[in-house]
Amino acid sequence: MELVSLVRLEGVAKHVLLPDDSRLDILRGIDLAVAAGDHVAIVGRSGSGKSTLLNLMGMLDRPSEGAVWFRGDPVRKMRRGKLDRLRGRNVGFVFQQFNLLAGRTALENVEMPLGYASGREFWRRRRTATEMLERVGLGHRLESTPEQMSGGEQQRVAIARALVRRPALILADEPTGALDVETGATVMELLDDIASEADAALVTITHDLHVAARARRHYRLDAGVLTRFDLGGAPTPAEANPSAPELAASVEEPGVEAGAGPTRPEAPSGVPSEGGGGVGAVEAASREDEPERAEVAS
Ligand SMILES: Nc1ncnc2c1ncn2[C@@H]1O[C@H](COP(=O)(O)OP(=O)(O)OP(=O)(O)O)[C@@H](O)[C@H]1O
Ligand SMILES: [Mg+2]
Repeated sequence: MELVSLVRLEGVAKHVLLPDDSRLDILRGIDLAVAAGDHVAIVGRSGSGKSTLLNLMGMLDRPSEGAVWFRGDPVRKMRRGKLDRLRGRNVGFVFQQFNLLAGRTALENVEMPLGYASGREFWRRRRTATEMLERVGLGHRLESTPEQMSGGEQQRVAIARALVRRPALILADEPTGALDVETGATVMELLDDIASEADAALVTITHDLHVAARARRHYRLDAGVLTRFDLGGAPTPAEANPSAPELAASVEEPGVEAGAGPTRPEAPSGVPSEGGGGVGAVEAASREDEPERAEVAS
Protein backbone atom coordinates (compact mmCIF):
# COMPACT_ATOMS: atom_id res chain seq x y z
CA MET A 1 0.00 0.00 0.00
CA GLU A 2 1.26 3.40 -0.91
CA LEU A 3 1.82 5.69 1.99
CA VAL A 4 -0.16 8.89 1.91
CA SER A 5 2.18 11.81 1.43
CA LEU A 6 1.90 14.79 3.68
CA VAL A 7 1.85 17.12 0.72
CA ARG A 8 1.85 16.12 -2.92
CA LEU A 9 1.97 18.20 -6.07
CA GLU A 10 1.03 16.64 -9.36
CA GLY A 11 1.43 18.34 -12.72
CA VAL A 12 1.42 21.71 -11.02
CA ALA A 13 1.81 24.79 -13.17
CA LYS A 14 1.53 28.43 -12.21
CA HIS A 15 1.15 31.22 -14.68
CA VAL A 16 0.04 34.81 -14.47
CA LEU A 17 -1.23 37.24 -17.04
CA LEU A 18 1.00 40.24 -17.41
CA PRO A 19 -0.42 43.72 -17.97
CA ASP A 20 0.39 43.47 -21.69
CA ASP A 21 -1.75 40.29 -21.82
CA SER A 22 1.22 38.03 -22.31
CA ARG A 23 1.45 34.98 -20.10
CA LEU A 24 4.29 34.41 -17.67
CA ASP A 25 4.90 30.75 -16.88
CA ILE A 26 6.33 30.68 -13.36
CA LEU A 27 6.11 26.93 -12.69
CA ARG A 28 5.64 24.07 -15.14
CA GLY A 29 4.72 20.43 -14.68
CA ILE A 30 5.86 20.08 -11.07
CA ASP A 31 5.55 16.65 -9.45
CA LEU A 32 6.72 16.48 -5.88
CA ALA A 33 5.71 14.49 -2.83
CA VAL A 34 6.90 15.13 0.70
CA ALA A 35 6.30 12.74 3.57
CA ALA A 36 6.58 13.04 7.34
CA GLY A 37 10.20 13.14 8.41
CA ASP A 38 11.42 14.10 4.93
CA HIS A 39 13.96 16.84 4.44
CA VAL A 40 13.97 18.26 0.92
CA ALA A 41 16.18 21.07 -0.34
CA ILE A 42 15.37 23.18 -3.38
CA VAL A 43 17.97 25.36 -5.03
CA GLY A 44 17.67 27.65 -8.04
CA ARG A 45 18.44 31.06 -9.41
CA SER A 46 16.61 34.15 -8.36
CA GLY A 47 13.29 34.28 -10.17
CA SER A 48 13.21 30.54 -10.92
CA GLY A 49 9.96 30.13 -8.97
CA LYS A 50 11.18 28.83 -5.59
CA SER A 51 9.01 31.01 -3.37
CA THR A 52 6.03 30.49 -5.65
CA LEU A 53 6.49 26.73 -5.27
CA LEU A 54 6.80 27.00 -1.51
CA ASN A 55 3.62 29.07 -1.30
CA LEU A 56 1.77 26.39 -3.25
CA MET A 57 3.07 23.69 -0.92
CA GLY A 58 1.98 25.79 2.05
CA MET A 59 -1.48 26.23 0.55
CA LEU A 60 -1.12 30.00 0.49
CA ASP A 61 -1.67 30.00 -3.23
CA ARG A 62 -3.43 27.78 -5.71
CA PRO A 63 -1.97 26.32 -8.90
CA SER A 64 -3.13 27.38 -12.37
CA GLU A 65 -2.99 23.74 -13.44
CA GLY A 66 -2.47 20.44 -11.71
CA ALA A 67 -3.35 19.51 -8.17
CA VAL A 68 -2.09 19.75 -4.61
CA TRP A 69 -3.04 17.20 -1.97
CA PHE A 70 -2.59 17.57 1.75
CA ARG A 71 -2.73 14.25 3.61
CA GLY A 72 -4.51 12.79 0.61
CA ASP A 73 -7.19 15.52 0.47
CA PRO A 74 -7.36 17.70 -2.64
CA VAL A 75 -6.64 21.29 -1.63
CA ARG A 76 -8.65 22.57 -4.60
CA LYS A 77 -11.88 21.43 -3.00
CA MET A 78 -11.27 23.06 0.37
CA ARG A 79 -13.07 26.19 1.41
CA ARG A 80 -11.15 29.18 2.65
CA GLY A 81 -11.91 28.68 6.36
CA LYS A 82 -10.92 25.04 6.32
CA LEU A 83 -7.78 25.83 4.38
CA ASP A 84 -6.79 28.55 6.86
CA ARG A 85 -7.28 26.23 9.81
CA LEU A 86 -5.44 23.40 8.11
CA ARG A 87 -2.53 25.69 7.31
CA GLY A 88 -2.45 27.30 10.74
CA ARG A 89 -2.46 23.92 12.40
CA ASN A 90 -0.04 22.10 10.12
CA VAL A 91 2.31 24.45 8.33
CA GLY A 92 5.12 26.53 9.81
CA PHE A 93 6.90 29.13 7.67
CA VAL A 94 10.40 30.49 8.21
CA PHE A 95 11.63 33.36 6.04
CA GLN A 96 14.91 34.99 5.21
CA GLN A 97 13.89 38.28 6.81
CA PHE A 98 12.47 36.67 9.97
CA ASN A 99 9.19 38.67 9.69
CA LEU A 100 8.85 39.18 13.44
CA LEU A 101 6.48 41.76 14.85
CA ALA A 102 8.52 44.84 15.70
CA GLY A 103 8.17 46.25 19.19
CA ARG A 104 6.78 42.95 20.50
CA THR A 105 8.76 40.71 22.79
CA ALA A 106 10.10 37.33 21.75
CA LEU A 107 7.46 35.73 23.94
CA GLU A 108 4.64 37.74 22.34
CA ASN A 109 5.92 36.85 18.88
CA VAL A 110 6.05 33.14 19.62
CA GLU A 111 2.69 33.16 21.42
CA MET A 112 0.98 34.80 18.51
CA PRO A 113 0.08 31.69 16.45
CA LEU A 114 -1.36 30.09 19.59
CA GLY A 115 -3.77 33.00 19.92
CA TYR A 116 -5.67 31.30 17.08
CA ALA A 117 -5.73 27.95 18.79
CA SER A 118 -8.54 26.75 21.01
CA GLY A 119 -8.96 25.03 24.37
CA ARG A 120 -5.90 23.84 26.17
CA GLU A 121 -3.55 24.92 23.43
CA PHE A 122 -4.86 28.47 23.79
CA TRP A 123 -4.86 28.60 27.57
CA ARG A 124 -1.40 27.14 27.83
CA ARG A 125 0.04 29.44 25.20
CA ARG A 126 2.40 31.39 27.42
CA ARG A 127 3.94 28.26 28.83
CA THR A 128 4.20 26.57 25.44
CA ALA A 129 5.82 29.65 23.91
CA THR A 130 8.27 29.89 26.80
CA GLU A 131 9.23 26.24 26.39
CA MET A 132 9.72 26.72 22.67
CA LEU A 133 11.98 29.72 23.24
CA GLU A 134 13.94 27.68 25.75
CA ARG A 135 14.26 24.95 23.12
CA VAL A 136 15.91 27.39 20.69
CA GLY A 137 18.23 28.61 23.44
CA LEU A 138 16.49 31.92 24.12
CA GLY A 139 14.94 31.23 27.50
CA HIS A 140 16.85 34.24 28.81
CA ARG A 141 15.54 36.61 26.13
CA LEU A 142 11.79 36.20 26.53
CA GLU A 143 11.22 39.91 27.04
CA SER A 144 13.59 41.15 24.34
CA THR A 145 12.14 42.75 21.20
CA PRO A 146 13.52 42.00 17.72
CA GLU A 147 15.30 45.38 17.71
CA GLN A 148 17.33 44.22 20.69
CA MET A 149 18.39 40.92 19.13
CA SER A 150 20.99 39.81 16.61
CA GLY A 151 19.99 38.30 13.28
CA GLY A 152 20.67 34.77 14.48
CA GLU A 153 18.61 35.35 17.62
CA GLN A 154 15.76 36.81 15.61
CA GLN A 155 15.77 33.81 13.31
CA ARG A 156 15.67 31.51 16.34
CA VAL A 157 12.61 33.42 17.58
CA ALA A 158 11.10 33.03 14.10
CA ILE A 159 11.81 29.30 14.22
CA ALA A 160 10.21 29.05 17.66
CA ARG A 161 7.17 30.87 16.29
CA ALA A 162 6.96 28.66 13.19
CA LEU A 163 7.20 25.48 15.24
CA VAL A 164 5.21 26.39 18.34
CA ARG A 165 2.10 24.58 17.09
CA ARG A 166 4.18 21.54 16.17
CA PRO A 167 3.42 21.74 12.45
CA ALA A 168 3.70 18.61 10.34
CA LEU A 169 5.23 20.63 7.51
CA ILE A 170 7.95 23.25 7.87
CA LEU A 171 8.63 25.47 4.89
CA ALA A 172 11.81 27.52 5.06
CA ASP A 173 12.48 30.12 2.37
CA GLU A 174 16.19 30.92 2.52
CA PRO A 175 16.24 30.71 6.31
CA THR A 176 19.96 31.43 6.47
CA GLY A 177 20.05 34.02 3.70
CA ALA A 178 20.45 36.97 6.04
CA LEU A 179 22.91 35.30 8.41
CA ASP A 180 26.64 34.79 8.35
CA VAL A 181 27.80 31.28 7.47
CA GLU A 182 28.45 30.13 11.01
CA THR A 183 25.21 31.50 12.47
CA GLY A 184 23.37 30.09 9.48
CA ALA A 185 24.79 26.64 10.16
CA THR A 186 23.73 26.80 13.81
CA VAL A 187 20.23 27.96 12.91
CA MET A 188 19.89 25.25 10.26
CA GLU A 189 21.04 22.57 12.64
CA LEU A 190 18.45 23.71 15.14
CA LEU A 191 15.70 23.70 12.53
CA ASP A 192 16.75 20.26 11.39
CA ASP A 193 16.88 18.88 14.94
CA ILE A 194 13.48 20.21 15.94
CA ALA A 195 11.95 18.97 12.68
CA SER A 196 13.35 15.46 13.24
CA GLU A 197 12.25 15.38 16.88
CA ALA A 198 8.69 16.08 15.78
CA ASP A 199 8.95 13.87 12.67
CA ALA A 200 7.93 16.94 10.69
CA ALA A 201 8.68 17.33 6.99
CA LEU A 202 11.13 20.11 6.22
CA VAL A 203 11.41 21.83 2.85
CA THR A 204 14.30 24.27 2.64
CA ILE A 205 14.94 26.73 -0.14
CA THR A 206 18.52 27.83 -0.15
CA HIS A 207 21.41 29.19 -2.15
CA ASP A 208 23.87 27.60 0.22
CA LEU A 209 25.14 24.13 -0.62
CA HIS A 210 26.12 23.48 2.97
CA VAL A 211 22.51 24.07 3.91
CA ALA A 212 21.23 21.95 1.00
CA ALA A 213 23.59 19.16 2.01
CA ARG A 214 21.64 18.66 5.21
CA ALA A 215 18.61 17.50 3.22
CA ARG A 216 17.88 13.96 2.18
CA ARG A 217 16.69 14.86 -1.31
CA HIS A 218 17.81 17.72 -3.51
CA TYR A 219 16.00 19.50 -6.31
CA ARG A 220 16.92 22.27 -8.65
CA LEU A 221 14.34 24.69 -10.01
CA ASP A 222 15.25 26.17 -13.35
CA ALA A 223 12.81 28.50 -15.11
CA GLY A 224 9.92 26.82 -13.33
CA VAL A 225 11.00 23.24 -14.05
CA LEU A 226 11.92 21.06 -11.09
CA THR A 227 14.57 18.36 -11.45
CA ARG A 228 16.11 16.15 -8.87
CA PHE A 229 19.86 16.11 -8.51
CA ASP A 230 22.18 14.15 -6.39
CA LEU A 231 24.30 15.62 -3.66
CA GLY A 232 25.91 12.23 -3.14
CA GLY A 233 23.14 9.95 -1.95
CA ALA A 234 21.51 10.68 1.36
CA PRO A 235 24.30 12.51 3.08
CA THR A 236 24.60 13.23 6.69
CA PRO A 237 26.20 16.63 7.16
CA ALA A 238 29.51 14.92 7.82
CA GLU A 239 29.39 12.87 4.62
CA ALA A 240 28.19 15.64 2.41
CA ASN A 241 30.69 17.24 0.12
CA PRO A 242 29.13 20.55 -0.71
CA SER A 243 32.26 21.85 -2.33
CA ALA A 244 32.09 19.34 -5.21
CA PRO A 245 32.73 21.53 -8.25
CA GLU A 246 29.82 20.29 -10.37
CA LEU A 247 27.47 21.13 -7.54
CA ALA A 248 28.93 24.51 -6.98
CA ALA A 249 28.35 25.23 -10.65
CA SER A 250 24.78 24.03 -10.47
CA VAL A 251 23.59 26.61 -8.00
CA GLU A 252 26.07 29.36 -8.47
CA GLU A 253 24.41 32.71 -8.80
CA PRO A 254 27.01 35.27 -9.65
CA GLY A 255 26.04 38.74 -8.64
CA VAL A 256 22.67 37.78 -7.24
CA GLU A 257 22.17 39.38 -3.89
CA ALA A 258 19.42 38.89 -1.41
CA GLY A 259 16.71 41.26 -2.46
CA ALA A 260 18.10 41.77 -5.94
CA GLY A 261 15.28 39.69 -7.35
CA PRO A 262 12.16 41.01 -8.97
CA THR A 263 10.46 43.79 -7.10
CA ARG A 264 7.05 42.86 -5.84
CA PRO A 265 5.44 42.47 -2.45
CA GLU A 266 7.42 40.19 -0.20
CA ALA A 267 6.34 36.60 0.15
CA PRO A 268 3.49 36.06 2.55
CA SER A 269 4.45 35.42 6.11
CA GLY A 270 2.01 32.58 6.49
CA VAL A 271 1.77 33.46 10.11
CA PRO A 272 -1.41 35.11 11.24
CA SER A 273 -0.53 38.52 12.51
CA GLU A 274 -2.05 41.71 13.71
CA GLY A 275 -2.50 45.10 12.17
CA GLY A 276 -1.09 44.85 8.69
CA GLY A 277 1.74 42.38 9.28
CA GLY A 278 1.66 39.47 6.89
CA VAL A 279 -0.50 41.37 4.45
CA GLY A 280 1.00 39.37 1.64
CA ALA A 281 -0.45 36.17 3.05
CA VAL A 282 -3.90 37.64 3.21
CA GLU A 283 -3.62 39.02 -0.28
CA ALA A 284 -2.25 35.84 -1.72
CA ALA A 285 -5.02 33.86 -0.11
CA SER A 286 -7.78 36.27 -1.04
CA ARG A 287 -6.97 36.54 -4.71
CA GLU A 288 -7.95 33.00 -5.42
CA ASP A 289 -11.34 33.72 -6.89
CA GLU A 290 -10.25 36.48 -9.20
CA PRO A 291 -8.72 35.88 -12.57
CA GLU A 292 -5.04 36.11 -12.00
CA ARG A 293 -3.39 39.24 -13.14
CA ALA A 294 0.12 40.13 -12.37
CA GLU A 295 0.94 43.11 -10.29
CA VAL A 296 3.03 45.58 -12.12
CA ALA A 297 6.51 45.44 -10.75
CA SER A 298 7.62 48.87 -9.71
N1 LIG B 1 1.95 37.57 -8.83
C1 LIG B 1 2.95 37.68 -9.70
N2 LIG B 1 2.85 38.50 -10.76
C2 LIG B 1 3.85 38.60 -11.66
N3 LIG B 1 4.98 37.92 -11.61
C3 LIG B 1 5.14 37.11 -10.59
C4 LIG B 1 4.17 36.93 -9.57
N4 LIG B 1 4.62 36.04 -8.67
C5 LIG B 1 5.83 35.68 -9.11
N5 LIG B 1 6.16 36.31 -10.24
C6 LIG B 1 7.39 36.15 -11.05
O1 LIG B 1 7.68 34.77 -11.11
C7 LIG B 1 9.07 34.54 -11.02
C8 LIG B 1 9.36 33.61 -9.87
O2 LIG B 1 9.17 34.30 -8.64
P1 LIG B 1 9.63 33.68 -7.24
O3 LIG B 1 9.42 34.70 -6.21
O4 LIG B 1 8.94 32.39 -7.06
O5 LIG B 1 11.17 33.45 -7.51
P2 LIG B 1 12.31 32.93 -6.51
O6 LIG B 1 12.92 31.74 -7.16
O7 LIG B 1 11.75 32.76 -5.15
O8 LIG B 1 13.35 34.14 -6.54
P3 LIG B 1 14.30 34.71 -5.36
O9 LIG B 1 15.45 33.74 -5.25
O10 LIG B 1 14.74 36.03 -5.89
O11 LIG B 1 13.49 34.82 -4.12
C9 LIG B 1 9.70 35.91 -10.91
O12 LIG B 1 10.13 36.32 -12.18
C10 LIG B 1 8.59 36.79 -10.40
O13 LIG B 1 8.73 38.11 -10.80
MG1 LIG C 1 12.09 33.70 -3.31
